[in-house]
Amino acid sequence: MTDLDRRTLMTSAAAAGFATTAASQTQAQGVPSAGKPLSGRVALVTGSGRGIGRASAVALARAGADVAVLDIADPDAFPFMPYPLATRDDVAETVSLVEAEGVRALSIIADVRDLPAMQDAVTRTRERFDRIDIVHANAGINIADDTIESFEPDIFDAIHAVNVRGVANTIKAAADALPRPGGRIIVTTSLAGRSGSSSFAYASSKWGASGVMKAAALNLGPKGITVNAVAPGPVETMMAYRDVGGRWTDETQAAADRAAREGNVLPVDQTQPEAIGRAVVFLAAPESDHISGMTIDVNAGRSSKFLS
Ligand SMILES: NC(=O)c1ccc[n+]([C@@H]2O[C@H](COP(=O)([O-])OP(=O)(O)OC[C@H]3O[C@@H](n4cnc5c(N)ncnc54)[C@H](O)[C@@H]3O)[C@@H](O)[C@H]2O)c1
Repeated sequence: MTDLDRRTLMTSAAAAGFATTAASQTQAQGVPSAGKPLSGRVALVTGSGRGIGRASAVALARAGADVAVLDIADPDAFPFMPYPLATRDDVAETVSLVEAEGVRALSIIADVRDLPAMQDAVTRTRERFDRIDIVHANAGINIADDTIESFEPDIFDAIHAVNVRGVANTIKAAADALPRPGGRIIVTTSLAGRSGSSSFAYASSKWGASGVMKAAALNLGPKGITVNAVAPGPVETMMAYRDVGGRWTDETQAAADRAAREGNVLPVDQTQPEAIGRAVVFLAAPESDHISGMTIDVNAGRSSKFLS
């Protein structure tokens, strides 16, 4: 597969498995319909210009929710990063994919590091949809060379500013606006924040995000708001190809597939973003109302190797 093919796969509706069906074009507002557990609900997903955030936005839309698609949409926002972030076109593509599910979408360009901007995003979401029920704090960044040897305090801080403070900002901005009871917060952490990892800045940031999730669950639980995490193993997104600048060739693709098969316990290839989207929908749905402060690992069985 060529680099161009691969990029198309990462961004196109068809390849992402989001083909629209007539059945999915049902009404989204009002009474929940069969197979649409989130109809009438409103979700905000950070970092949804592409990758896991996009898959979450589309999965929530398919479950019936209107979706605010939030992303920094600035490919060069972090000069130290080995791969570009999403573009405004990527955000527009996510909006189209959400609308193709028969619900409404709102595009918001914002940086999760900026609390006032996140508060404004929540205000805009409520103005557009009259409510906000579900928040998926998903935006995150990574680097390729992440060891003690390569440690740079400014880069370490920048990764934590997005991956930890960005999650805290997102929760802080939304907490007062969520229904009590019934509000749902989901945080994307990582396998790197669930088991030991040698990535110095990234893994520590994901352990931090997990701590933010726990604290928020304790703060907001008494108010009837659940707070949980999804912890992906390696997922086939731009981030997974950070060692090669977010680019891929037949060779790097084969190497990534091979590494996935070797690391996975289940006999499956690289996890696709849609697998994370399905877990998000579960945690957002009314059926999960007695689940809070926990993590769902979506890692092709790698959890089997953890301590209990
Ligand atoms: N891909 C993996 O293997 C993997 C594994 C475990 C966890 N994760 C986590 O999943 C989440 C999504 O990552 P992905 O794999 O889809 O990567 P990705 O790079 O494709 O997507 C990340 C998105 O976040 C956006 N973003 C980055 N910084 C932002 C900011 N400051 N404000 C707003 N938006 C911002 C980017 O523009 C991009 O659209 C991240 O938190 C990541 O750490 C990914």
